[in-house]
Amino acid sequence: MDSLDDFAAAKLAALDRGGLRRALAETARGPLYVERNGRRLLSFSCNDYLNLAQHPQIKAAAVAAIERWGVGSGASRLVTGNHPLFAELEARLARLKDTEAACVFGSGFLANAGIIPALIGPDDLVLLDELSHACLWAGARLSRAAVRAFRHNDVGHAADLLRAHRGRHPRALIATDGVFSMDGDLAPLVELGRLARRHDAWLLSDDAHGIGVVGGGRGSTFAGPEPADVPLQMGTLSKAIGGYGGYLCASRPVIDLMTNRARTLIYSTGLPPATVAAAIAALDLIARDPEYATRPLAKAKAFTRRAGLPEAQSAIVPIVLGSAAAALAASRRLEADGFLVVAIRPPTVPDGTARLRVAFTAGHPDDEIERLADLVRERVHA
Ligand SMILES: Cc1ncc(COP(=O)(O)O)c(C=O)c1O
Repeated sequence: MDSLDDFAAAKLAALDRGGLRRALAETARGPLYVERNGRRLLSFSCNDYLNLAQHPQIKAAAVAAIERWGVGSGASRLVTGNHPLFAELEARLARLKDTEAACVFGSGFLANAGIIPALIGPDDLVLLDELSHACLWAGARLSRAAVRAFRHNDVGHAADLLRAHRGRHPRALIATDGVFSMDGDLAPLVELGRLARRHDAWLLSDDAHGIGVVGGGRGSTFAGPEPADVPLQMGTLSKAIGGYGGYLCASRPVIDLMTNRARTLIYSTGLPPATVAAAIAALDLIARDPEYATRPLAKAKAFTRRAGLPEAQSAIVPIVLGSAAAALAASRRLEADGFLVVAIRPPTVPDGTARLRVAFTAGHPDDEIERLADLVRERVHA
């Protein structure tokens, strides 16, 4: 073996020893059930919270767009020309989030990797909630700014860090998940918005798991009694919206700056027309039937009540078990009972907090939720 293969094999062996090696499991996914290893399992490991990925109207919108415009988009939106569907999608996103404008990126990860370095540079400061998603960390590091973490959802700690460090930096950004992807709790966006204003810092919230689910479907900025002051509302079209792509909703000057400075927008091929058409159809559906968007959270709450867990705040419910081995064993036990509930291990979550992450969707049958809750109460979390 040459040094490259030696390196890869040694890394994999170390992951194996810690129970942290991952593999891609072939899985055919229906709206609720998946097929894996020849078995049909009810999936609680999917972020398709509104089951829109396979919704007939949304599939029809995508198919019509393929028939009319083909499968690929040809080049970056700045090079090949901006497909007219983008303007429609961006106008809808801006309306939903109550901002002047919006900008669609290739994915949520690409959005954060582009937005932060377009606004923040090496002399500046980025404060991140310690449990922020990997792509917020990636964007912060790409900016080459001074990056500091504040304790999870601890506004007081963020204030201390601003008092200590803000003065040394021309610009500062505070970034956080709106709904935390592995914990399901909500960020204190109202308080963070006020703190950011007081220190002339810019607040960026990543609403990947909020749009379509909390705040009447409008996302975490709108989940409290009053809308939070969040000038940079980022999110993804790949979860409740059912398709793929990322976005930023913000003021017109900020969005125009993205078109000029966000490298992941400028130097990456635009989303295929079918993906954009699907997102428009999904947003239409949510706007027409806001009650539908309340279902994943209602199902998650019914589950936590019955399982004896703290009340769900979003469609995501964590069951923290500690070691990777314990989480894997619990996942295997639930699989034997017909449920797909994947174990989440470090480095996705901090060491010692491996867990089951249970994600609820609008269509999960109530009797199966009860069966899962009983299994969790009796066998997993006993
Ligand atoms: C909080 C959060 N932000 C961003 C992303 C990335 O979004 P995408 O899958 O569209 O790249 C994810 C999920 O993968 C996420 O959980």
